[in-house]
Amino acid sequence: MPPTSPLLVLIPGEINLDLILHGFDAFPTLGREVLVDECLPTLGSASAITGVGLARLGVPVRFVGKVGADAWGDQCLETMRAAEVDTTFVERSADTRTGVTVAISSAADRALVTYPGAIAELTAVDVPSAAWDGAAHLHLSSYYLQEGLRPSVPELFRQARDRGMTMSLDPGGDPTAQWQGGVRDAIALADVFLPNAVELEGIGGDPDPVRCLTALEAEGCQVVAKLGARGSLALVDGRPESVPAPGVDVVDTTGAGDSFNAGFLAAWLGRRTLVECMRDGVCCGALATRGLGGTTTQADVNELAELRAVHFGGER
Ligand SMILES: Nc1ncnc2c1ncn2[C@@H]1O[C@H](COP(=O)(O)OP(=O)(O)OP(=O)(O)O)[C@@H](O)[C@H]1O
Ligand SMILES: [Mg+2]
Repeated sequence: MPPTSPLLVLIPGEINLDLILHGFDAFPTLGREVLVDECLPTLGSASAITGVGLARLGVPVRFVGKVGADAWGDQCLETMRAAEVDTTFVERSADTRTGVTVAISSAADRALVTYPGAIAELTAVDVPSAAWDGAAHLHLSSYYLQEGLRPSVPELFRQARDRGMTMSLDPGGDPTAQWQGGVRDAIALADVFLPNAVELEGIGGDPDPVRCLTALEAEGCQVVAKLGARGSLALVDGRPESVPAPGVDVVDTTGAGDSFNAGFLAAWLGRRTLVECMRDGVCCGALATRGLGGTTTQADVNELAELRAVHFGGER
């Protein structure tokens, strides 16, 4: 059975370029220069990577965002359009630069430096009513980075609910590490909440992941945690269910969580069970780590099916 759903996903989100500097002997410190083996300018940003990941899996995606009228913006939009993401509602702004993240990465981990540029400029006003037409699901990533959009998230979610849509939220990191800003209110309005381990602990306020899942699910939302190489953890009928990540030759983990979101949501919109959705999430997350950048090795339906069969056997 195909894992994907024909339902249209609307993503109001940030679009920025990643400049990935990969393969260092020593991590740079102030006053020192280090050389890296590889350099790749490529589409970054959690929202855009999730959108391209969904489109790769055959889920129609409409994106609402802002980029600068510059070469970085051109490159980001080209990648999104090549994946058949609908970018009709992406505005080119002459007043700002497209944001950029410099990622100093190795297979083990990475350090990120972000110039937000147009990222913080998107507001609810930029989501016109025509953008909602035909959409069945609203996905939001980078809650903390999207400062212009954040105050309107409850309103956007209520609008989606009134239109009979479902909603998912990936908080992304909070650069202030305060984990406030009304995120609990947003979780309470969403159907699925998709934090990574750091975000789960920060927002759940407890080092124990199961206690965090329990506390956050009290908001009335399904919480699914991404735990890097350890896979995914969620409560299924009140009991912790862990889904291991497939072992792959990891090159770069940029966008692994966003690719997990894509695999998870494609299955979730296709009304698969929670464990099946988590399995597709971990497979898509793992496949995305095979190459540099967030979208370069994202799974299509066939690659997902192949890894799912190898890792989880014939059962879905
Ligand atoms: N080293 C790894 N080996 C195998 N799979 C991995 C590895 N790292 C990540 N993944 C897969 O990707 C998923 C998401 O990864 P992670 O928990 O790092 O998300 P994240 O921190 O939100 O990532 P992002 O950088 O995209 O925000 C994991 O659940 C796992 O399935
Ligand atoms: Mg993430």
